[in-house]
Amino acid sequence: MSINVGIAGLGVVAQALLELAKKNADQLNDITAKTLCVARLASRRLRDEVELGEIAFSTNLDDLVTDDDLNVVIELIGGTDAAYDLIKACLERGRGVITANKAVLATHGNELLEIACARNVPLAFEAAVAGGIPIIAALKTRFPANDINWVTGIINGTCNYILTAMSEEGVAFEDALRKAQDLGYAEADPTFDVGGMDAAQKLAILVALAFDVPIEIDEVYCEGIQDITLADIRHADEFGYSIKHLAIGRQDEDVIEMRVHPALVPKDNLLAKVNDVENAVQVGTTNTGVLRFTGPGAGGDATATSVIADLTNIASGLYRQPGIGGGALKARPIGEVSSAFFLSIAAADRAGVIASIGETLASHGISIASMVQKQEEVVRSDDRAVIPVVILTNEVAEHELDQSLRELESLEDIASPIKKIRVVDLA
Ligand code: HSE
Repeated sequence: MSINVGIAGLGVVAQALLELAKKNADQLNDITAKTLCVARLASRRLRDEVELGEIAFSTNLDDLVTDDDLNVVIELIGGTDAAYDLIKACLERGRGVITANKAVLATHGNELLEIACARNVPLAFEAAVAGGIPIIAALKTRFPANDINWVTGIINGTCNYILTAMSEEGVAFEDALRKAQDLGYAEADPTFDVGGMDAAQKLAILVALAFDVPIEIDEVYCEGIQDITLADIRHADEFGYSIKHLAIGRQDEDVIEMRVHPALVPKDNLLAKVNDVENAVQVGTTNTGVLRFTGPGAGGDATATSVIADLTNIASGLYRQPGIGGGALKARPIGEVSSAFFLSIAAADRAGVIASIGETLASHGISIASMVQKQEEVVRSDDRAVIPVVILTNEVAEHELDQSLRELESLEDIASPIKKIRVVDLA
């Protein structure tokens, strides 16, 4: 029996998919006991350099919907509008869909999953999160007899590349970003990656699977890496930490924390050692401790391999469809999350300043774990000389810390704003 596949898009992932499917055709046919055939491809434009052979080509995505000889459509166009229309139309026509598109899932995933379940057709998305790492397959098992307590990861390769370059080569954020763009890791408009939105979308999907809840992108607290400086990286290093862009999902009884932001990670933790464009996801479980997955989070071959994993599972009848989580998602506001904090406070070099910082923090019940005054790093702020006072606090609820920072910023000897970065305890 033959499985006819339609592909939407002809970008990097689609080209890698065509190449891998051709090169491994015999093996894929053996695994599935079917003949897999890419029958049709639709893309806004044809690329002369891509050899399509017998594959029917059109510039009209609707052809993938109306061609009833197709068994599965692979959506690789990205974005939310056209991809949503295509996926929905295919599912409603009873045709299985594979997508690598986290944006469409973060925005319309609940509706699309509901249609897939109601029509009993697969909607598979292994490639949508962390590229080549099979984290969706792992979370989909729901770890029977073994609860998931938290999921933490580095799931944006662009941020990880930039932070690695800043840390290892001592280049400033803008230069590291330019390098990432030159190497094709960052988009011409990098806002979506460096602002944290890409990681937030991926986290919303991971959390939905891990904790059996709906996908709720609007509940993810999101901060990017644009404000991280070389001085922050150096100061964190002196305290024994690396700065990474983390995605964290944690369940505490019926409340879920979902946040992406830069964080201090102890240098001896695996996540501190995941560099460049690599991704990593750690899953904290009740019976198997911490499970760790690392690998390429993007790139044609890695992403196409995850698409092929979905395709072979669907073709061989082994694909198990996750639905929309049954439990409603009750999110914990970031102000109620407790962490230790790294603070960098630009303060006038005057007697009594350190005492007033200590007193203000103490008045909010915040205790200082470490503190260094960087006498040699004089900078100017509001036309006066200030020096950084770098502090690690003990754990405190974020709303309490924020209140203490507003009080500190109102002091004459302290410049605004105070830099705060969360310290993530991965024990
Ligand atoms: N732009 C993403 C990243 C890869 O930098 O990790 C695709 O999700």
